[in-house]
Parts: sequence; C-alpha cells; structure tokens
Amino acid sequence: MSSLPPSSRRRFLAQVGWGAGALAGAAWGLHGGRRARADAGSRATAFDPDVEVSLKATPSKARMLPGDPTDVWTFQGRVVRGDPRTLEHIPSGALGPTFRVRTGQRVRVVLSSDVGEETIVHWHGLHVPWAADGHPSQAIAGGGQYVYEFEVKGPAGTYWYHAHPDRRTGEQVYRGLAGLFIVDDPRESIAELPAGAFDIPLIVQDRRFDARNQLVYLTSPMERMTGFLGDRIVVNGEADFRLRVARRPYRFRVLNGSNSRIYRLAWADGAPITVIGTDGGLLETPVRKPYVMLAPAERIELWVDFGERPVGSETSLVSQPFDATTPMATGGVPQGPPLTIMRVSVDRPSADRTPLPARLRSITRYRSTEAINADNPRKIVATMQHMGFAINGRTFEMNGVAPDEHVKMGTMEAWEFDNAASAGGRGMGMGMMGMAPMPHPFHVHTGQFQVVRRDGVTHAGYVDEGWKDTVLVMPGEKATILMRFLDYPGTYLYHCHNLEHEDAGMMRNFRIDR
Ligand code: C2O
Ligand code: CU
Ligand code: CU
Repeated sequence: MSSLPPSSRRRFLAQVGWGAGALAGAAWGLHGGRRARADAGSRATAFDPDVEVSLKATPSKARMLPGDPTDVWTFQGRVVRGDPRTLEHIPSGALGPTFRVRTGQRVRVVLSSDVGEETIVHWHGLHVPWAADGHPSQAIAGGGQYVYEFEVKGPAGTYWYHAHPDRRTGEQVYRGLAGLFIVDDPRESIAELPAGAFDIPLIVQDRRFDARNQLVYLTSPMERMTGFLGDRIVVNGEADFRLRVARRPYRFRVLNGSNSRIYRLAWADGAPITVIGTDGGLLETPVRKPYVMLAPAERIELWVDFGERPVGSETSLVSQPFDATTPMATGGVPQGPPLTIMRVSVDRPSADRTPLPARLRSITRYRSTEAINADNPRKIVATMQHMGFAINGRTFEMNGVAPDEHVKMGTMEAWEFDNAASAGGRGMGMGMMGMAPMPHPFHVHTGQFQVVRRDGVTHAGYVDEGWKDTVLVMPGEKATILMRFLDYPGTYLYHCHNLEHEDAGMMRNFRIDR
C-alpha cells in the first residue's frame, strides 16, 4: 500500500470511503506511522497547495499566570510553503497558532505529534472531504504523520481546529491542542469592518491550576460524566486578561473553547451586545441583544465601538448568572454564576469613526419544505444511561453506523435535537439515573446549518440568524436545523461538544452515501 504513488493512493482513499468492509480497514492501515493523504476527492492530478503548514502537537510551556510557566500540550506550526502570514502565534503559547486563509486556497497540513498518545486534528466547522476531517479512526501515534489536503470552501468565518482522538479529546483540548482557523473572502464582504490590529480573536476557556501553576483536569468520576468546570477564566491562554483599545470600532471574534462551560456574554455596564457573526461567518444584518449564550465550540462575532467612551475608561466583558440546572460542582466553579471574562481599557484616541454597516452579507435562507424529511425530522434525542449521556440510547462506536444514520448526498435534511426527554418527559429523570438533565451543545461535522425552530426555550440569548455548526439545547428544549449534505461522501461525526460528554460516548457516526 505504501508503495502506491500519491495520486493513486488518493484515488484509493476516495473510492474506499467508509464501511466498505475489509477495504475500509486497509485504508486505516495507511497511517500507522506512514503518510495518509486526503484531498478534495477525485482530482486526478497531484494536489498543488497554495499553502503548506507543518503542525506538530508537542509538550511546551506557556505563560498563563504570573510566576511559573504552565506545562501545556500545544501545536507548533510552521509555514513551509506559501504566505508566511498564514500563521499568527498566540502570545501566551497556550494554544496553537491562528490560521488566516482565504476561500479558494488549497491547504496542506502535515500533522505530527510527540505528545506520547494518539491524536488527530479536526477542522471544526469547515466543509472538507472525509479523509481530511480528522475522524478518531485516523489518529496517529508517535512518529506518525497525517497529511490533510483540502480546498477552503466558504463561507468566510471564524472556525477552529482541535484534537479529536477517541476518549481523549477533552484532555487534549484542555492541555492546549486547539487554535483558530479564520477564513476571509474579499468577494463575500460587502461591509467595511475593522481589520488588522482592530480585528481581535478571543478564545475564552476555563481552567484550574494547582499551587505551582500547573493545569488540573478531572478530579472526580462525577466530573468525568458531567463535564470539566474550572475556576479561572483564561482568554487566549492568559488569566486576568486585559485588552487595551483605542477609541474606535473593533471586531471581536469570540470562541468558546471551554470543555463544558457555557457563557452568558454581556457588557458589565449594561450596554447591548452587537452581534455581527456566528459560527459560519457574518450575519446579514447586525443584531443587538442584552446578552448572548455561548456554548462550547460556538463562535460569536461582535462589533464593539469604543468611540463613545473616554480615554481612561474601562469596561468588562462578563458572563451573567444563569440557571443551568447542573449537578454539583466538583472542584471548580459551577455552571452559571457571574464571571468576569476580560477587562477592556480605552487607552488612546483615534480618528476612526467607521459606522456599523447596516448590511453585512447575504445568506440564502433554507426553507423547511426543501428538506427531504420536512414532515418527519431526524430525531437526535439526548438520553441518559448508567454511565452518562448518549444519543438515541447509543454511544460512540469507532466504525459503527446504524441503519438510521445514513444520509443521501445532495439532499437537505431536518434534524431535531431533543433535550426535553431527558428533562423528565419519558421516565428518564434524575431519580432513575442519579443524574440531573444537562445542557448539550450539539455539533454536526461537514459544514454549516441553519437553526429554523426551537421548542420549549428556557434561555433567551441564542443567535440563530446566521450559519451555525453547533447549537445549544438546554434541558427541556428542542432545536430543529436544516443542513445540506453537499458533495463529500463518507463517515462523519455528530456529537455533544461538551468534551467530557463526547469522550464518554455522546457521539455517533453518520454516513453520507453517494
Ligand atoms: Cu469541534 Cu467533532 O468537533
Ligand atoms: Cu466539527
Ligand atoms: Cu452533552
């Protein structure tokens, strides 16, 4: 197998897809210490990347707190071909570099690792072929490499990448194996938005440290089931994060990169939040909200105009208290109390008075009648069983795809995420399993969807106006999405993005059939 020239190996992978029995098994064998390749599908010619990055998962030290450095695992990136500005480093060193690419660029990433256990990288929210999606079955161990080759498809937006091995995603992401993947598209933007130093990525996470500034992960079996909650907020890997800004407008790109913490984002002084984008890029028009719910893996883009504030003034981005009906906290701060996320000080004047654009872009609205199952949405029910949460009563099986987990390529489907059943509806309440119902941020691989309906909403602050790849469903709620399965057959994941739920098996494969 390893003697095949790269182009035939690619074709081989593209044909095999998933679930072709013994052949699929052979495909896995390709990357045990050797190279596996993935490109945009059946292209017969060699993949000619515009940019090539070598990305290594490796132990490192970061400046997360004053004093001793913190041991982390992170990605070291190097641009080996193309524009060196493709990677921007995070000052704390606690996270991987931020990718900056444009729609249409062909990207090759060569992943290697010396963290001493299996890992694989997933490009969260991007529409990529199966072989470039970072399924746990593609994980590499020490000495192995995985080669990703894909073309960056729209929409422009704030995506991210993170480790995605079986059962180890939570801990690897917690230790730092994550970063942003920002896609720009000059043709798509009809609005003039703050750029360069005024376009600020903010990765919000919670952590727990010991007395020597070292990361503490799960400390109890209960926490392993319910999800890690820390007691310190870090932004871009730094505790007590403070941003110094000029008196002018900014674009903030906020990623909730936490394992299980949900934020109810608001300005401390009560100013409304101006949302301009969600998981899959800009909204059509800005939306003002008193606060915004942001679950793990979700992104929100904000327009923030500091032009109204005097030099020397200060404000904070906070998480307002909310009722999360979450079980006891074990060691960390529970879900839902008030938290300060970061302080912002206005420290210099600026002449820039760019106004908030009235229109940002256009979005093709899906209609429910376009879905092939419009009358009968696919039901994805959060269920509880003895050792934790499951999906429709099933937990993850590496190669398992149930008969009802197939989707036809080229179709649009309605999926209903149901977190009402576990909240007491069907005799699966807390008494029986010894667990309280919990929030579940559901995520579907392969691209973006639209949230078209919610039932039983208990929390306002959802932004459903734009493209999404993760949807928060609180206990008692349901959310219905429309998703189009375009052009890449193969086996992809859908799962809860509470990373401890995911690691415990609240994840399933679905297969896109030709
Ligand atoms: Cu961001 Cu399958 O995950
Ligand atoms: Cu994903
Ligand atoms: Cu969950």
